[in-house]
Amino acid sequence: MPQLPETLSQAGLQFTVATEEDFDDIMAMSQDIYGGLDYLPTRYTSWLQETNRIVILARKHGKVIALESVCVIDDGDTMLVEGLRVAPQERGKGVAGVLLRFCNELVKFKYPEVKVCRLTRDDQLGPKDFQKYRLITKQGILLVRFRAEDLKLRLSELGVVGDIQSSLPTSSPKCPPVRLDHTAIHRLYLTTELMQGVLPNSTIIQDWQPFKPLPSNMAILLKKDIDWMVDDVSNPAVASLCTFPFRVPIGDDWYYLNIDMFGKNLDLVQQQFLSHLQCHTTSLKGHVMCQMFLDPLLWKPMAEFCQKILNVELVKEYTEQCVVESDVI
Ligand SMILES: CC(C)(COP(=O)(O)OP(=O)(O)OC[C@H]1O[C@@H](n2cnc3c(N)ncnc32)[C@H](O)[C@@H]1OP(=O)(O)O)[C@@H](O)C(=O)NCCC(=O)NCCS
Repeated sequence: MPQLPETLSQAGLQFTVATEEDFDDIMAMSQDIYGGLDYLPTRYTSWLQETNRIVILARKHGKVIALESVCVIDDGDTMLVEGLRVAPQERGKGVAGVLLRFCNELVKFKYPEVKVCRLTRDDQLGPKDFQKYRLITKQGILLVRFRAEDLKLRLSELGVVGDIQSSLPTSSPKCPPVRLDHTAIHRLYLTTELMQGVLPNSTIIQDWQPFKPLPSNMAILLKKDIDWMVDDVSNPAVASLCTFPFRVPIGDDWYYLNIDMFGKNLDLVQQQFLSHLQCHTTSLKGHVMCQMFLDPLLWKPMAEFCQKILNVELVKEYTEQCVVESDVI
């Protein structure tokens, strides 16, 4: 652990590296966060094993009161802040600020080559935040819920059936979306300029994590369970990443399906959305919270499409996912 600046050591907090044994204490202070869509219960164990990640707890009188994780990505240039949370009774007292500064010092000590800090937020950013952060990109957040069995039925009524071609080149927008294999992902994202016009500010956002299209990041991404799609491998206009569904603490038998969508063509976005839904509703049972991140201008027509055509319920009005960055100094 690095030597703490005086202001931090005066905060009366102790900082420890998180372990398996801390899981229950962390869950106890995480009730209801992210509207019940917390990914941490699913990710915690694997986070502790990742070599490029640290998970830090803040304790007060020995009790866990806050958590932050930092993951080093982008060839070692970027520290990505994730999972930040403070126990409800300790909020509004500056704990998050102290923990963020502590982790910043720790990362500078452990990874001196890190240049910038990035985080993805969905709360309303104010002028004070923009003094600290540059905006890298933003996406609209469309959150809908449905019962998997109901949507399966609706998709078959709409004639959304059958296979998606696997990495076969397509040329017409009428062709179904193409599901990419690892070779095609490598080729498209790393060896061509084709994704430049599709990705927002050259950023691949996967389930809240923003990555630059670099080989080291691809190695991280390709270890995950993700369906990668494009409309056309030779000239993509829309690309999407669907993270395999996982359970969330909102209730028993609730799953979360995360779809990151890039590109501005509404028809193609609809097609890829339907393909992802079709793929996953075949195996899903029970309740699903499906969150799609998409170009802000497409939010309204896609919200209408979800409600009027798919008959699924809109959970909240328009909100934004913002990827922000500050220099590590
Ligand atoms: C958001 C949360 C962590 C803030 O904790 P807090 O201890 O009440 O916040 P503070 O009193 O330290 O005051 C805000 C400070 O945290 C920072 N902050 C607030 N929300 C933040 C967020 N979502 N991401 C990063 N920093 C945030 C502010 O910029 C400020 O920093 P400063 O001290 O450098 O000015 C807390 O309300 C919480 O746990 N909420 C539920 C979980 C959640 O929404 N986490 C955000 C994930 S993106």
